[in-house]
Amino acid sequence: MKITMIGSGYVGLVSGVCFAEFGHDVVCMDLNADKIEGLKKGGIPIFEPGLEEMTLDNVKAGRLTFTTDIKAAVAGAEVVFIGVGTPPHPETGHADLKYVYAAARDIARSVEGFTVVVTKSTVPVGTGDEVERIIRETNPDADVAVVSNPEFLREGAAIKDFMIPNRIVVGIEDERARSVMTEVYRPLFINQSPLMFTTRRTSELIKYAANAFLAMKITYINEMADLCEAVGANVQEVARGIGLDNRIGTKFLHAGPGYGGSCFPKDTLALVKTAQDFGAPIRLIETTVEINDARKSKMTKKVIKALGGSVAGKTVALLGLTFKPETDDMRDSPAITIIEELVEAGAAIRAFDPEGMENAKAVLPPITYCEGAYDAATGADAVVIVTEWNEFRGLDLKRIKAALKSPVLVDLRNIYRREEVARHGFTYSSIGRPS
Ligand code: NAD
Ligand code: UGA
Repeated sequence: MKITMIGSGYVGLVSGVCFAEFGHDVVCMDLNADKIEGLKKGGIPIFEPGLEEMTLDNVKAGRLTFTTDIKAAVAGAEVVFIGVGTPPHPETGHADLKYVYAAARDIARSVEGFTVVVTKSTVPVGTGDEVERIIRETNPDADVAVVSNPEFLREGAAIKDFMIPNRIVVGIEDERARSVMTEVYRPLFINQSPLMFTTRRTSELIKYAANAFLAMKITYINEMADLCEAVGANVQEVARGIGLDNRIGTKFLHAGPGYGGSCFPKDTLALVKTAQDFGAPIRLIETTVEINDARKSKMTKKVIKALGGSVAGKTVALLGLTFKPETDDMRDSPAITIIEELVEAGAAIRAFDPEGMENAKAVLPPITYCEGAYDAATGADAVVIVTEWNEFRGLDLKRIKAALKSPVLVDLRNIYRREEVARHGFTYSSIGRPS
């Protein structure tokens, strides 16, 4: 099939490359000329495990091309996906749909023959209706079916999530889209089709309901961690003890510094706004948003406490800047608030992240970027682990201790065991575990 992706960011590029891997003929289009020029030369603009190899293979096989020319990209395509950003509106907190609507107008001017236009971006209920209205207004002759097909991939595991999905949700209002969307995903079906067809509005809401539920689950275990600290219990064992009940499940029960990233923070906020607009407020998610916002400052306080109540004039070695491992994405990373507040409180920061430092430089106050964990620890008063990259899991604690001014370790991801760290003579604090 001939498939076009409008927007070649984390979702557009990964989806486009994976569709090409299925054997489809894919064009990835983006307005960002530097990004497209780079991609044409084999430069992958994001860090995502496995993406570079798969991109190069599919370009070589002639199934994947890149362009800034929307007309050429859309004309003749059977399916056009919209995968542009939907960031929070700076004033209202609603999803800002200007990129989606601009893409809809551009598509309308370029479609030829029957075309299925699919919103893959995360968009509020009713956006599909507006996309359809815009297309018909811009080009009354356009023959389109507008579909919702939200994406559920996680950064850092994007290719696996795309290739082996739990489910593919497709919201349609025009029956002609059913067979086209089945054909798009057919190469994925082995024994059973993971496709779930529903209405467009339900599909749009499923995406927010899923992200908000996961954000709430994380927030629940984070609050449970605080209670564990207060009563002397162990949150990892509580998580396991409840998660083994498969009505609860063990996933997304890792206590930490609060959820971050380009999706949970913006999508929980957007759901709250939509629900309020429709007079059906979701108080659980309103509270989740508040608790998660406050959690990052709680982590700063934990670091200050571990350093004896003040960080003024002290140096903190901070390991992990991205919102999770295996990505270079800094959007809404808890490290941003923690660093801003530590700097405000008078600390100097020596930071290291395996992939995120270039993006970090654009969003963080001035700090020192280091060559690695041991370099960061050199002369510092404490090490703080903010993101659980694998290379931080097996640090040579003897070497870290020798590099530090004082042996203080704050582990905001619970990747060490107290006994092990104590054996090396560290003062250790973690999340929701007995001190
Ligand atoms: P991104 O910012 O990485 O990429 C968006 C791209 O769209 C940019 O390259 C931008 O230049 C391009 N763009 C904007 N307007 C355009 C237009 N009119 N025509 C062509 N290109 C245009 O964003 P992302 O992280 O890929 O997210 C895209 C959407 O997918 C969002 O709605 C997001 O919520 C959703 N989503 C993201 C993830 C994720 O893991 N990042 C997962 C699931 C869903
Ligand atoms: C999340 C969802 O998991 C995807 O299904 C969804 O497609 C995506 O948002 C989206 O809509 O964009 P992502 O943000 O890439 O994916 O990463 P997650 O693995 O979900 O982690 C999000 C945040 O929650 C991270 O800051 C992570 O550290 C935190 N987290 C996650 C925890 O603190 N504890 C956990 O148990 C799990």
